[in-house]
Amino acid sequence: MWSKSDFPFEVSAAGRVNLIGEHVDYCGGKVLPCALSLKNTVYARPNGEDVIRIRWTDLPDEATLRLDALEEGRRHPYAKYHAGCAALWRAAGHTVVGCDLLMDCTVPFGSGLSSSAAIEVSTIAALATVAGEPFDPVEVALVAQKAEHEYAGVNCGIMDQFVSANGRAGCALLLDCATLQKEDIPVALGDCVLVIADCKKPHSLVKSKYNERRAEVEEALRILQKRIDADCLADVRPYLLEEYKKLLLPVVYRRAKHVVEECERVRRAVQYLRSGNVVAFGELLNASHASLRDLYEVTGKELDTLADAAQSHPACLGSRMTGAGFGGCTVSIVRREAEENFKAFVAEKYERATGYRAAFYRAEIADGIVVKR
Ligand code: GLA
Repeated sequence: MWSKSDFPFEVSAAGRVNLIGEHVDYCGGKVLPCALSLKNTVYARPNGEDVIRIRWTDLPDEATLRLDALEEGRRHPYAKYHAGCAALWRAAGHTVVGCDLLMDCTVPFGSGLSSSAAIEVSTIAALATVAGEPFDPVEVALVAQKAEHEYAGVNCGIMDQFVSANGRAGCALLLDCATLQKEDIPVALGDCVLVIADCKKPHSLVKSKYNERRAEVEEALRILQKRIDADCLADVRPYLLEEYKKLLLPVVYRRAKHVVEECERVRRAVQYLRSGNVVAFGELLNASHASLRDLYEVTGKELDTLADAAQSHPACLGSRMTGAGFGGCTVSIVRREAEENFKAFVAEKYERATGYRAAFYRAEIADGIVVKR
């Protein structure tokens, strides 16, 4: 039995909810996610051996990764993330020492709240901490993203790992995914709160569909670049996309239209958040959901039902799917005094239409990486 109190280091990294800017991070767009108090905590200690030993607070398994054969960990169903992080952190020139790592994750798995980013980022920060090395959270995020690409097979953007490492309590992180320039934007919602609802539908298609969307927008960019001077799709103004629409297959045009319009929505969302115009901010969330449903086609019946139910409640200012889609969560802005009524209303409507029982998560906007010794 490993007990948390036996470990000298406690290193956590956050799950996230994205407020707006969906499926634009890998197109060089700006995103506006928040780090959550739902997090993965790694309890860590050096073990003086040539292995990394991993246990989980909620699983009976133990995984042992040999430092001279980290690659082999790629085949382990859960430890592949840690193996990838350790191998790639070392490949980036850092010291990795033998250690015991106890994982304690409060980000619900498969919920679209980035449990995998929280695991990857906290693992790398823990490896650096037990090795006695300082770390740069930006580099941690980049190596974590690489682990997701190479060991989990998801060709993800940088948003999840970046905010998991760099988020600030009380703030959304405005991240320019082309330059990695970041700015903390206080989330002041007046008399409203954020409500996260999980549609609880198992989302098995995410990986293949996600990679397929990426390929579609890459094709759009390749074709548009023959006529337009743009480094990434986020640079393309909506009027230029219209001008060259005929060059693109209809499906590729729809994907690109989502991206360029979502980027405009992020620009306006930041202005509204800064000026405290929560009503207008909420309307942008609704528009984002509609675009992800109709143009990007990553929602599906369950997320649409959940967002529709939320949007039809009088105390809801806006609601949209958050994350990759195909299942997972919605985020809604709701008048505080009606929060419980809203949840009961949405849960009832949703279960009647789909047969699934939605879950609601209580989470604060928290810091990204936190190291305690
Ligand atoms: C997943 C990916 C992110 C991002 C979102 C969609 O969460 O990991 O990089 O692309 O989907 O916005």
